[in-house]
Amino acid sequence: MKIILKNISMKFDDVIAVDKLNVTMEEGSLVSLLGPSGCGKSTTLFMLAGLYQPTSGQLFFGDQLVNNIPPEKREIGMVFQNYALYPHMTVLKNIMFPLKMEKVPKKIAMEKARDMASLVHIDHLLDRKPGQLSGGQQQRVAIARALVKKPKLLLLDEPLSNLDARLRLEMREEIKRIQQATGITTIFVTHDQEEALSISDKILLMKNGRFQQFSGPQDIYDHPKNEFVAQFLGNPPINLLPATLSGDRYTVQLTETGEVIQLPYPVSKEVKLNELLLVGIRPEDLYIEVDENKQGIGGKVLIVERIGRDNLVSFLIGERKVRAIVPLDASITQGQRVKFGLHPNRFHIFRETDGENLLTGKSLITSHQHSEEEVV
Ligand SMILES: Nc1ncnc2c1ncn2[C@@H]1O[C@H](COP(=O)(O)OP(=O)(O)OP(=O)(O)O)[C@@H](O)[C@H]1O
Ligand SMILES: [Mg+2]
Repeated sequence: MKIILKNISMKFDDVIAVDKLNVTMEEGSLVSLLGPSGCGKSTTLFMLAGLYQPTSGQLFFGDQLVNNIPPEKREIGMVFQNYALYPHMTVLKNIMFPLKMEKVPKKIAMEKARDMASLVHIDHLLDRKPGQLSGGQQQRVAIARALVKKPKLLLLDEPLSNLDARLRLEMREEIKRIQQATGITTIFVTHDQEEALSISDKILLMKNGRFQQFSGPQDIYDHPKNEFVAQFLGNPPINLLPATLSGDRYTVQLTETGEVIQLPYPVSKEVKLNELLLVGIRPEDLYIEVDENKQGIGGKVLIVERIGRDNLVSFLIGERKVRAIVPLDASITQGQRVKFGLHPNRFHIFRETDGENLLTGKSLITSHQHSEEEVV
């Protein structure tokens, strides 16, 4: 089912939890709702579930306006952070429960519950009670219970947050598998950027109740619309270096060192010559440059840390710490001066005042115009 949020807002007294959200989620897709604590993720999910009424705006499921449709008539399945299983019921009874409420004959309910249990791989646990299950198994029960009525929309609110790291990884792959097997439009709330990047068809990133960007994982990572998006995604985080335009619109000069960086295309005419900019470079986009004539940024190495397959090099540019990911065999030692090259098209220029990405493409579409595309 296609989900359309049209100018959706939610106010609690003086808090605007969600502020004029406009998004269209395609039928059958897995969308992550991502953002820092308090940005409005759960509130958005509760509005979709019908547990909250938006203070303004329209919510469509397909062509149907659902603002006034009660939760039980919305054909949704929901999994909360704490799973909320019934402790005194067996796994089978837990999964059957939504069908029992609808007075589905017991034999059919049992059959459907067994099918769901098999889909989420817990067929062997049907006679146990929730207390006798691991966290991951309980979570599977909660998903089976949410799916048993064959909902048109599955809502998951941080379903992995109380699992350990390894189980979390396993369960997120499971959620992806189950979502693909059922084809149910799924909205997955998380504040973990890596989780969102790994399983989503699209990521909706929010901040303070406001829309930031709605794009596929690779696109949002490679083409962040603003500094917040760029900083929220990626670990170690993107490097940000203060700079200003250097004479023309094709070059910027780093404030700390005076080094000049050539841009792939000019920044917008709106930018004033002395306006403070931030050059954003991801750690994996810096490489060791031996050619003195090529452009790059130089610094003194503070520390070299091994992170699995690579080394993480932290160095100082002026007063600023910058991180680069380099191969293990690159011989770099603490205290050494190293020059790092930048790929010509793999950095961003953000305006310091509002964070807008000024290098979003040759046409220099502003983020405002860009977000209009998502508006229905
Ligand atoms: N029932 C409520 N009454 C008043 N304010 C609320 C209520 N529910 C949420 N808020 C406020 O609305 C904002 C958004 O809350 P929400 O729970 O949607 O955030 P979230 O993104 O899910 O955060 P988290 O990652 O911590 O779960 C917060 O500022 C929160 O304090
Ligand atoms: Mg929440």
